[in-house]
Amino acid sequence: MKKIGVKGTGSYVPERIIPNSYFEKILDTTDEWIITRTGIQSRRMIEPGQALTDLATPASERALEMAGISPENLDIIIVGTSTADMLSPSAGCILQHRLGAKNAVAFDINAACPGFIYGLAVAQKFMQDGSHHHALVVGGEIISNRIDYKDKATCVLFGDGAGATVLGHSDGNGDGEILSTHLNSDGNLWSLLHVPGGGSRNPPSHQMLNAGLHYVKMQGNEVFKYAVRTMVDAARKTMESNGITSGDIDWFIPHQANIRIMETVTEGLGIPFEKVIVTVHKYGNTSAASIPTALDEAVRSGRIRRGDLILMSSFGAGFTWGAALLRY
Ligand code: ACO
Repeated sequence: MKKIGVKGTGSYVPERIIPNSYFEKILDTTDEWIITRTGIQSRRMIEPGQALTDLATPASERALEMAGISPENLDIIIVGTSTADMLSPSAGCILQHRLGAKNAVAFDINAACPGFIYGLAVAQKFMQDGSHHHALVVGGEIISNRIDYKDKATCVLFGDGAGATVLGHSDGNGDGEILSTHLNSDGNLWSLLHVPGGGSRNPPSHQMLNAGLHYVKMQGNEVFKYAVRTMVDAARKTMESNGITSGDIDWFIPHQANIRIMETVTEGLGIPFEKVIVTVHKYGNTSAASIPTALDEAVRSGRIRRGDLILMSSFGAGFTWGAALLRY
């Protein structure tokens, strides 16, 4: 079985910054409430007319540049997203076109927030037998147009962004290795976090829009509990299966949903918070983009260095959750 390592990372967030003060003007909320309950100070939002691949393309170009790999050398493109540019075709195919990655097979994974972890796991399986040499795994989301700006319990939480990672074969000697990936789902709990409209159940119609079915519906308290439980569980199982403990981890990158979820998960795992990469304060919850964006920023700022052991854990709609351990 071939070893697979991270060769390059990239990310891109929209330029428009939406501070908490914006919500103070349109809702019965305060900067203090949002910061205390979520840790979020601001988030990024696309301009009207922009779509997912407008963020995923520059993020991918940055990852390819760092990896020193041209788009023609990509064998596979996987986009973890539930907010592709359009219902069909996939964001993966549009990204392939925009990059000129003519030799790649491209597709999306709709696994909500852990979409990037799911993408890593699938790419790893494609590459392990040596048949696919280079993969681009993207996590990206445009949630700003899926939220109801009258629903104060959801609209303050989310932001737009995209993160990308280029994977290649590795000799395991200083050029990185994905040590393991662990995925889980529990469809019994789908209704706790979902977007009911726009698919085949409630197709687009004036009625559907008037009822606001195209917006995120969430039972925040329940989601909070499951997020903590499952992210701890996935991270623990990942460490156990690799024969390591939390003391061996150099960096922990949890899904950036909410600082209280991140703190509780980190405490449950016994990892000191100084080892946690945090971007939620400035980007909010960017769903599938949160982990690859945080990874890229930590690599580019020099915090994460070659040889570091990185644990990632995520949770989202489905429910889906999963963890990955990699030697950078
Ligand atoms: N400003 C002011 N008050 C608010 C706001 C707001 N933005 N949002 C909710 N409230 C009010 C509620 O109306 C409620 O008022 P009431 O007591 O008079 O009825 C009160 O605050 C408490 O509401 P709770 O829902 O109990 O507040 P909680 O402390 O649980 O915080 C939150 C809500 C932040 C949504 C929390 O449940 C949470 O973070 N859940 C996880 C959600 C999440 O991260 N989802 C993302 C997708 S999944 C994922 O990425 C992991």
